[in-house]
Amino acid sequence: MNRGHLIPVERLRAAVNDLMLGFGSEPREVALVTDNLLQANLTGHDSHGIGMLPRYANAFLEGGLRPNAHALTKLDSGTLLALDGQAGFGQVIGHEAMELGIARAQAHGSCIMALANAHHLCRIGAWAEMAVVAGLVSVHFVNVISRPMVAPWGGRDARFGTNPFAVGIPVPGREPVILDMATSVIAQGKTRVAHNKGERLAPGQMIDNFGEPTTDPKFGVVEPLGALRTFGEHKGFGLALVCELLGGAVAGALTAHQPGDGKQRVLNGMLTMLFDPNRLGDGAVFGGEMQAFLDWVQASPPEAGLSRVQVAGDPERASRARRSAEGIPVDDNTWKELLAAAAKLGRDPARVASLAGVAA
Ligand SMILES: NC(=O)c1ccc[n+]([C@@H]2O[C@H](COP(=O)([O-])OP(=O)(O)OC[C@H]3O[C@@H](n4cnc5c(N)ncnc54)[C@H](O)[C@@H]3O)[C@@H](O)[C@H]2O)c1
Repeated sequence: MNRGHLIPVERLRAAVNDLMLGFGSEPREVALVTDNLLQANLTGHDSHGIGMLPRYANAFLEGGLRPNAHALTKLDSGTLLALDGQAGFGQVIGHEAMELGIARAQAHGSCIMALANAHHLCRIGAWAEMAVVAGLVSVHFVNVISRPMVAPWGGRDARFGTNPFAVGIPVPGREPVILDMATSVIAQGKTRVAHNKGERLAPGQMIDNFGEPTTDPKFGVVEPLGALRTFGEHKGFGLALVCELLGGAVAGALTAHQPGDGKQRVLNGMLTMLFDPNRLGDGAVFGGEMQAFLDWVQASPPEAGLSRVQVAGDPERASRARRSAEGIPVDDNTWKELLAAAAKLGRDPARVASLAGVAA
């Protein structure tokens, strides 16, 4: 791995806030985008952290990302909401859409919220976390409109995106379950992270531009591009397909069906189902069952080298605790790309570096 920097969270926040001003964003947008990206780094998902900013800068300069846009309501029938993100920052659009959906689910018991045309919604688990804080279960089917990156099971080239799927479940007396995953075997940003660090991928994750297996992450980053595989073979492909049909066709009115156009913007469509579990029955009964089941699976003797069985959401909580204390590691290539993006946006890279406490 190349050299890097370990940056305290608040220093990195100050640096990213400064860079964000280059988009002309309102203060609330600056705060929401910066915090969402830092949370991705804190939870260990560097693929969705501040390393996204160079791409956002290019998308903005090409006209594909619209700062200061807000979620527009296209349909409102009480428990059914259809919203348009107008290619605004996904961190703002996602936040506004979830606020609306959560309020409806609290009022009526449930809500189905369809969100089209948001720029990159980033870590989908962030939206599930918002719902569990409000005591709600949420299920998210998401598609990705960008250059296709994932091959269908049985195919040799990329036909769709890394289509994430997420579920948040509040569990009485315990931390919530937050299942949040790309339907590709790894998230696309993880090829960029590995490429920037000079690392190889594990076997079975990628095919090259000829459809042959490769461990070189460059096939996810630079031309000629290859494709990621879906997780779980045909089963992951099935879930990716459902994400495209529900998050893309139904919610987003836009599916992947052509090669990439070379543009940097990433649009997400998201179909979200929200409901209050306590309105479905006796919360004390199913809360007890949830606890019993989670205790039962976590009592499984851990494999050699592991201290215990984890459940979805545990690795992110552990990383958040560790990185909040120690700082966020940023590899050298990502840091250089970030400073170059700051310059492109008309900000002073030396100032961004000094706010982060990184020597120029
Ligand atoms: N916005 C987009 O277009 C887009 C596209 C793809 C992915 N993403 C995001 O990328 C991020 C990374 O996705 P990923 O698939 O690489 O995540 P991942 O493989 O790191 O984790 C997937 C899930 O498995 C759980 N998990 C991880 N290790 C575990 C273990 N040892 N035991 C039990 N559970 C475990 C995690 O808590 C998580 O819920 C997600 O936040 C996702 O939303 C976003």
